[in-house]
Amino acid sequence: MRIYITKDYNEMSRKAANIISAQIILKPDSVLGLATGSTPLGIYKQLSEWYMKGDLDFSEVITVNLDEYRGLAPDCEESYAYYMKQNLFDKVNIKPENTHLPDGRIMNPEEACRLYNELLIKTGIQDLQLLGLGRNGHIGFNEPSDIFAKDVHCVELSQSTVDANKKFFASGKSVPSHAYTMGIRSILRAKRILVIASGEDKADAVNKVFFGEVTPYVPGSILQLHDDVILVCDEGAFSKCK
Ligand code: F6R
Repeated sequence: MRIYITKDYNEMSRKAANIISAQIILKPDSVLGLATGSTPLGIYKQLSEWYMKGDLDFSEVITVNLDEYRGLAPDCEESYAYYMKQNLFDKVNIKPENTHLPDGRIMNPEEACRLYNELLIKTGIQDLQLLGLGRNGHIGFNEPSDIFAKDVHCVELSQSTVDANKKFFASGKSVPSHAYTMGIRSILRAKRILVIASGEDKADAVNKVFFGEVTPYVPGSILQLHDDVILVCDEGAFSKCK
């Protein structure tokens, strides 16, 4: 594992964006696994700026997102499909047909997961998978559990995840109870994994995920078994690591 510790969030975002842009420049038709949430926002802003300057070309890039809320359509402002359009896809020259997320409109979990599993197989393995970390060590929406779920599956979100994600929902709207997510095998098959974390409230998660026991109770700890992981985090997020 390679670790880059940055001074702050902005430096973390720039470093991680650099790694992603190098991937696109070296392999213009890269399959990128993408994440949502607060942490990648600075990265997507930086990538959009580099595209605007003419330094990056997304015309051949293919993306597969980690997850989507069950019950939210892509035009719903709280959906991850909407987030991706707002923060990246509408700002660069990526082809809409090359961007993929689980379909939150499908309420039948078996069908939604089967379709996204099939799509992931069709698009091919991720050249680079971007991951944020939940405060409980989750990756994608793989919540702490007795087992590592392998493929795309439907999860009931833990209370800590629901609470953490409330800030993205307008008042009066509640966070859906379930989400579709890539499983551990879908994530680990990526050739390279780029993990980002910022702030002291992620310090426990970073320490447990990278330096603790490998256990499904800390889902991200499985990353210790992947042979090409890059962690880019700021000093706050690294503050509990020895
Ligand atoms: C989002 C995702 C989640 C987040 C994690 C951290 O697609 O898969 O695992 O990466 O919850 O979220 P933030 O960045 O909001 O702290």
